[in-house]
Amino acid sequence: MDTKLDPETNKERYHERYDQAKQSGVKFFPDIIYKDLLVAFGIFLLLVGLAVFVGVKSEPPADPGDSTYIPRPEWYFLFLFQFLKYFPGKIEWIGTTLVPVLAIAALFLLPFIDRSPLRHWKHRRKVITIMGVIVMGMAALTILAVVETPPMEEISLANSLQEQYAAGEGLYGFYCVECHGAEGEGGEIVGVEGLEGVTLAPLNSTEFLYTRTDETIQNVINYGQPDLGMPPYGLAYGGELATDEIEAIVVFMRYGWDDRVELPADTAASGVPELAEDGIPNYVDHIEPIIRRTCVSCHREGKENGNYFMTSYEETINSGDHMPNLIAGDLGSNVLRMMYREEIEAGGPMPPTKALKEEWLDLWERWVMAGMPETADDAAALIVEEAEQQPSEEP
Ligand code: HEC
Ligand code: HEC
Repeated sequence: MDTKLDPETNKERYHERYDQAKQSGVKFFPDIIYKDLLVAFGIFLLLVGLAVFVGVKSEPPADPGDSTYIPRPEWYFLFLFQFLKYFPGKIEWIGTTLVPVLAIAALFLLPFIDRSPLRHWKHRRKVITIMGVIVMGMAALTILAVVETPPMEEISLANSLQEQYAAGEGLYGFYCVECHGAEGEGGEIVGVEGLEGVTLAPLNSTEFLYTRTDETIQNVINYGQPDLGMPPYGLAYGGELATDEIEAIVVFMRYGWDDRVELPADTAASGVPELAEDGIPNYVDHIEPIIRRTCVSCHREGKENGNYFMTSYEETINSGDHMPNLIAGDLGSNVLRMMYREEIEAGGPMPPTKALKEEWLDLWERWVMAGMPETADDAAALIVEEAEQQPSEEP
């Protein structure tokens, strides 16, 4: 057909052809009905065949106790699922309501927007482009959803009690110390936005431990107590911890603090090795484990607290608003004075709720005096240096 005609003539032509087709047309009954029935029956057979020979792979039975399960929509809704992720929190309504309503309204308005009587695709490039972009966007969102949502893998963190305890100790030090204290001692919260000055009851008391089962404690960690200020940690509740990690934390709390149970003797309780009287402590073996137990929860990426980050050797020595907080050979370094519970310009005492153990204070002090070696080799080199210097000093 000649599509260069003006729209009105084109419309008339179309009507003519329509009338012709109608006259020579087929009847709805029985012709069309018959075809429909055939196709419907064909599809029915196909479905029965698929159900019998292919089937649907079922997921594992629903387990209400499994908090790691991340529900995901069917594939054809994945693009919406992904789309919503870009509108977190308060602006969620934009993704859930505004955009879909606008999209549906646009569909309603389509007949008024696209008034061209021309049907050939060459005359509809604009609309086809818009639709193409939308369809590609949906495809891209679907692919992103598949790629980004973590697969439901079972990561086994630890098997033996010792491994669980050690893992739990690390996790507790990272996530919980900032509010509950390194030993679960509770007390007044310092440096946590929104909870400043709130006083927490101890978690390490017999009163707490004797009246809660492991499961109860796991549930609290999993769901949190949002109205009291305890954040949820379970993956399914927006937290970062898998079920076995939460279990490990409870193992640490139970075996570390409950006097009715005891860890097997071969477990190094704190992960800080003993050191001979004249040995030189190093960062990797002695200082870092103490930091992980007592400081890192408040002094890491994402926490302000004097902008002092204690997640690496370099930052421990060289960061913070009151830098330098550690000076080799200086017992008056900020960190040491704070650990002796002095209040200085940079703050203090540190950690805020409870003094460090004597042995740990001693390790810190000896480490600073020795020049803060990073590794065991660095410490050994210092000892050699000393030995070499000694003879020359003697007459
Ligand atoms: C941001 C501060 C904060 C962090 C971090 C935090 N909690 Fe809590 N937690 C609270 C508050 C507030 C409560 C409310 C109960 C209270 O007032 O004692 C609470 C309550 C609890 C309770 C229940 C206490 C009871 O008496 O029943 C447990 C158990 C607990 N937290 C464990 C943990 C563990 C384990 C972690 C680390 C994974 C953790 N919390 C991290 C603030 C925190
Ligand atoms: C419960 C949270 C918490 C814990 C645990 C904690 N700190 Fe702090 N720290 C703070 C806050 C809050 C500040 C900001 C200063 C202030 O208000 O007292 C701070 C500041 C500091 C500063 C000063 C940084 C600067 O340059 O201004 C040093 C040094 C420091 N802490 C050392 C430590 C050490 C060492 C430990 C572990 C033994 C530790 N802190 C454990 C909350 C904590």
